[in-house]
Amino acid sequence: MKSGFLLAVAMTLAAQTRDQNTFTSATAIAEGKRMYSFYCVNCHGMDGASGRGARLASKFRRFGSSDREMYQTISNGVPGSEMPGAWLDEDSIWKILSFVRTLEVQEVAACRSDPAAAERGKQIYAAKGGCAACHTIGMGGGRLGPDLTTIGATRTREHLRESLVEPGAAVAGRYRSVVVEVKGKKVEGVVLNEDDYSVHLMDRAETLRSFLKSEIGGIAYPRQSLMPAYGVSLSGAELEDLLDYICSLKGGRN
Ligand code: HEC
Ligand code: HEC
Repeated sequence: MKSGFLLAVAMTLAAQTRDQNTFTSATAIAEGKRMYSFYCVNCHGMDGASGRGARLASKFRRFGSSDREMYQTISNGVPGSEMPGAWLDEDSIWKILSFVRTLEVQEVAACRSDPAAAERGKQIYAAKGGCAACHTIGMGGGRLGPDLTTIGATRTREHLRESLVEPGAAVAGRYRSVVVEVKGKKVEGVVLNEDDYSVHLMDRAETLRSFLKSEIGGIAYPRQSLMPAYGVSLSGAELEDLLDYICSLKGGRN
């Protein structure tokens, strides 16, 4: 316990020793690449664009693109997402960052989108798909699912396809489904926060609700996402159009 705390303190201090990456030699990049192929490749792909995580082969960074900000992202992860923090020493993280910088100049398009198909997909999103009930684009929409405003800039087409056909295959922590039993009634929603004593969730009507664990009859975490699967209700062509549309959502980036 105590050593864990000291380690955390040491790491916080270590994280603040430098603002700029000095591990930029060819050897450092090669070492960074080796570590990346071990710790990061499953989610980001060797080209930085073929995994299920964010697209790294791009200059756009939701969480900041300075050396210091990216150090923090890689070291601490992105809370509420699949992105874990890397428990590595400071030098290793800088070396991995140097390799990531070589990916970002490649600008591999994660998600290609045809304008005519995207226009058709937009209609499906609004009407048949009913997506806006749970998702926000720009200003309008629901809050039960993740905001999709820049989703096309940060996700691969494969990841998005899987999200539509097989929701729940890779649910990020923040959107885990939960069913709480209170006084014989079931309340369904997504987990916002949870500790040993309480659970906070957003129910299907987007109401925030908190329960003490000592007061509830039971709690379950269905594997299934609140998002319906669209592999059957949409035709293959409709699904592709919809993908063209959400791939085009780049929040003004490309
Ligand atoms: C289990 C999957 C997973 C692993 C392993 C993983 N990441 Fe991520 N990463 C993600 C996801 C998902 C996101 C997007 C988070 C979001 O946007 O909410 C992300 C985001 C990022 C971002 C931020 C991009 C931005 O737009 O700001 C960087 C940088 C990054 N990852 C680098 C790495 C590096 C380097 C490693 C290895 C040390 C790594 N990741 C390991 C899933 C992963
Ligand atoms: C009943 C609410 C609901 C509806 C309707 C819904 N979604 Fe979702 N969606 C969610 C939730 C909750 C998640 C997060 C859990 C998960 O990934 O399954 C999600 C996840 C996603 C993701 C993955 C986002 C990421 O960060 O990787 C995409 C893409 C997506 N939805 C698109 C759509 C589209 C397009 C439609 C309409 C065809 C749609 N959703 C309809 C609730 C919904």
